[in-house]
Parts: sequence; C-alpha cells; structure tokens
Amino acid sequence: MFKGFTFKARKPNQLLNVEDYRRRMHRCVPAVVRDYVEGGADDQKTLAANRTDFGAWTLRQRTLAGVSAVNLATSVAGSDLAIPVMTSPTGMSALTNWVGDVGVARAAEAAGTLSVLSTASSYSIEEVGQATARSHWFQLYPFGDTEFVQHMFDRARTAGFSTLVVTTDVPVRGNREGETRNGMAMPPTIFPSTVFDAVRYPVWWYNLLKHQRLGAANYEKGVSSRINTTVETHTRQARFMQSDLVWDDIRWMRDLWKGPMLIKGVLDVEDAVSAVSTVGVDGIIISNHGGRQLDCASSTVAALDRIGAELGGKTQIILDGGVRRGTDVIRALCLGARVVQIGRPYLYGLAVGGETGVRNILGIFEEEMRRALILMGCRSVHDLDRTWINRVSPV
Ligand SMILES: Cc1cc2nc3c(=O)[nH]c(=O)nc-3n(C[C@H](O)[C@H](O)[C@H](O)COP(=O)(O)O)c2cc1C
Repeated sequence: MFKGFTFKARKPNQLLNVEDYRRRMHRCVPAVVRDYVEGGADDQKTLAANRTDFGAWTLRQRTLAGVSAVNLATSVAGSDLAIPVMTSPTGMSALTNWVGDVGVARAAEAAGTLSVLSTASSYSIEEVGQATARSHWFQLYPFGDTEFVQHMFDRARTAGFSTLVVTTDVPVRGNREGETRNGMAMPPTIFPSTVFDAVRYPVWWYNLLKHQRLGAANYEKGVSSRINTTVETHTRQARFMQSDLVWDDIRWMRDLWKGPMLIKGVLDVEDAVSAVSTVGVDGIIISNHGGRQLDCASSTVAALDRIGAELGGKTQIILDGGVRRGTDVIRALCLGARVVQIGRPYLYGLAVGGETGVRNILGIFEEEMRRALILMGCRSVHDLDRTWINRVSPV
C-alpha cells in the first residue's frame, strides 16, 4: 500500500521561506536581539506598510509562453550580480551571530551578489576586505566631521570597497521603543531580566563571550571591537550625529569619493530629482531604514511608484524595506527598481545558521524569483516593466 513512500523517524526541520527563518530566530537569540532586529519606530505603521503596500499590485500571468529558463543576472552601479538582490547595511550584525558582517559578505559572494558594509559594522572595514574576494560596497553614516569622513573613505578604498552608499535618513535616531524597553537606549542599560533571558540561549551567550563582537568596529583606528563598545558605539553615534547635513555636504563627498556613489534614505520625488540632477549621484536607494526612523512616512514601494514614474531610466534605483518574497522583488523591478536590498531577512538567516543561513535566504529569493518568472511567462528580469503588474488598490 505504501510502495514508493520514504519513511523517516522524524519530520525534518523545514525552513522553506523567510518567515520560517524569522520564527526560528526566536529560538536562537534573546529578546534584546530580537527586538533590535525586528522593531520599528513609534507605532510601527511604516514598518507594516513596507509589507502590506506590496499587496497593491498583482503580477500579470501570461500562459503558454514557453518559458522554461529565466535570466536573473543584472548589474548596478558598475557591479555585476547573479541575482537582483543585495544585502543592506546593518549595524552590529554580530549580535545575531558572531560571524557577523564577514559571514554576510561571504554568503553574498557565494550567491553571486554583494553586500553593503555598515559604518556601524561588528567587523571592521579591513577585516571584511581581507575576508572577501570581490569588491563590496561601503555605507557611510556621515557622523563626526570632514576629517572622519575622509578617514573612512581612505580606509574603504584601501580595503577594496568599490561603491559608496551615504545614509541620509538618520539626522537623529528613530524612536524604537522595543529597543528602549530592553535597554538599547542612551545610555545603554542592562537589566537583570536582560541577563536572565540571555542565559536561556547558551550557544549565543557562549559565542558572545568568546568572540566579543558586541559593538561597532569602525570607530576605532584599530581593527577589532571589544565587549564594552556597545556603550561606546551608542555614545559616539549620539555625540557625532550631524542633524544639519545638507546637499552641499553630499556634493563635497561626491567630489571626494572616486567611484560610484548612491544616497540611501530617499522617499521624496523632489529629493530624488535633486540627488540625480544637482549632485550627480550614480543612483538612489529608496529606503525608510526598514521603518526604524520616521514613523508614518511612506512605504518604500509606494515611494518607488512615484519616483520610478518620474525618474525611470534617468538613474539607477534600488529599493529596500519589506522585501520578503521573490514576488516582492519582481514587483519592485516592474516599478522601476534595478535591484532590491534586504535587511532583516538575512539577519534572520544569520541568527539561525550563520553564513550558511544567509546563503540559504539568498537561495530562497533566487528560487522564488525563478519560479515566479516562469509562472508569469517572463524570460528575464530585464523584460520587467509596468506592463507586468496591475494596480488593484491605491497606496
Ligand atoms: C538591525 C538593523 C540595523 C540596521 N543598521 C543600519 C545601518 O547601520 N546603516 C544603514 O544605512 N541602515 C541600517 N539599517 C537599515 C537597513 O539597511 C535597511 O534599510 C532595512 O533593514 C530594510 O528593510 P527590511 O529590514 O524590511 O529589509 C538597519 C536595519 C536593521 C533591521
């Protein structure tokens, strides 16, 4: 009766999609880390909208199109990618897993794509440069003064980073109440409950103590971070945050950085036009910092709809925020993005399985895009445009 069936003693742990990894992360890291990764600002309206607004568009399905293989390869700002998905910069990623930025960059390379290293990374610019084979991108928080910025540019260039991303949506830190409740505020505070909760995760705790990757590694001239630098990281960021940054500062950086440069944190059409026509950046990253900064701001996919319609073809557009499925990537590409970046999804992968976990997440996106394009009857990501989607509700 059961001929042809395979019997197994136990059901395998199947992590089939990003949401499975998110749920599994809860078994791997303490609440303080989960809230740091998952939380957004204020009432988290923008965080939610980043997800739900994708639902305003449906995909066109052409039948009998004879498509059995699809092309996912593309390029952006001079970098060739096997898939139109990169990893966003995230500060202190080693809080989720000690392999941190090195694991993320290596996993991105293995998937044929690239990572963007945060200024607030757990591993220094030099460490990531040495551990990788390709030229990844570097994200700058223009904290501090011109001397600090020049110093960071020199280090990034020397370590082999090809492309600069300047994040402009953090003139002040967003109000992330989940982080504050757990003591990740100013000043960072450790409560007994934080410690009791953390000891329930012995593997995470052991690696934390062993590898001591708690803070940001780039603020020191040296190459490694030490356990007490979470406090230093927060203090420095708060002290050197430049709320008064203006377009002239970006122009100055544009002249100084000899390579492709993009601005991250653009949501407004007028800003997108200024970035391209007056500053001459090579591209913009439509981002609201994953809903962690201004709550009630536009979702990124709604901003892409507006900006893509105005600027499509005049610059290279990247979207991040709320991308959880291959079909989200496809919808963003239809609306004018060349590539998307993912933040939390790869942090879930990192928390669950280190470098392999990140590689698995990128593999899931690849597989989902491939399958969806075949089902749509579309041969290549380069064929995607607004004719491949229908708007079913306003955003
Ligand atoms: C834990 C965490 C840390 C982040 N740190 C940085 C950072 O250091 N620099 C930066 O430009 N953006 C940072 N971001 C924002 C991401 O680069 C990206 O814009 C966002 O995560 C995209 O949304 P998603 O998480 O829904 O994919 C961070 C996001 C998270 C979740």
